[in-house]
Amino acid sequence: MAEVLRVEKLEAGYGKFHVLFGIDLVVKSGEIVVLLGPNGAGKSTLLNSIAGMADVYSGRVVLLGRDITGRPPHEVMKMGVAYVMQSPNNFGTANIFGELTVYENLIAASAGIPGKEVEGRIEEVFNIFPKLKELRNRKAKFLSGGERQMLAIGLGLMKKPKLLMLDEPTSGLAPKLVSDFFSAIRDIRDKLGISILLVEQNARKALEIGDRAYVLVTGRVKFSGNAKLLDEGKLAELFLGR
Ligand SMILES: Nc1ncnc2c1ncn2[C@@H]1O[C@H](COP(=O)(O)OP(=O)(O)OP(=O)(O)O)[C@@H](O)[C@H]1O
Ligand SMILES: [Mg+2]
Repeated sequence: MAEVLRVEKLEAGYGKFHVLFGIDLVVKSGEIVVLLGPNGAGKSTLLNSIAGMADVYSGRVVLLGRDITGRPPHEVMKMGVAYVMQSPNNFGTANIFGELTVYENLIAASAGIPGKEVEGRIEEVFNIFPKLKELRNRKAKFLSGGERQMLAIGLGLMKKPKLLMLDEPTSGLAPKLVSDFFSAIRDIRDKLGISILLVEQNARKALEIGDRAYVLVTGRVKFSGNAKLLDEGKLAELFLGR
């Protein structure tokens, strides 16, 4: 299986604040890879490092065989990465325009896409999130948190990324919606063929849809392997650092 993403011996942080120590991680084509770990472990920082939004001190980030270490965010996006940041950061960065409708936001995200492909891509997004189709004429500022999260992911999908990075997409959602989100994430992989790197607090559900998992504790990988091998006991052990 081809590799979409390879992170090698990554050391990264923010300025002098060193967060990640020797991270190795791979996402293969067609995989859903789950990234778990306690608060402050460095999960978001790892996604930020891939997206060019943290400081990489050494090591490499390779996307589809090309070294993208330290490239700025817009270049990384252009090369095939969509990144839906952890909310509330989402508000500032997801490129959602509150005064525009759902449909207009999707159009706004289609810059650079050949005109004749735009409607087809919007249909793809609506197939993944039928709710967005119902809400197509609603201004984004009136969307609920969950609907807004769907739109943020939908905007990322408009660019047909090779890799979709989702940082806690189900946090703050009503329990009923959470299951819908997990099946949508699986659909994105199965129907659109997009590989996924998923950070989740909801470990059990994430591991159900995940192929492989990594557990990060205080900036280091403490487990990597088949998602099905991580049961609750093992996870508790890793989280508690025993
Ligand atoms: N922009 C930033 N500048 C400086 N330090 C930061 C920044 N973002 C995060 N940190 C720090 O880096 C460390 C790792 O944070 P990070 O957000 O990566 O953890 P996380 O695993 O995503 O946690 P959570 O589960 O709470 O989202 C924390 O000590 C945090 O305070
Ligand atoms: Mg985080």
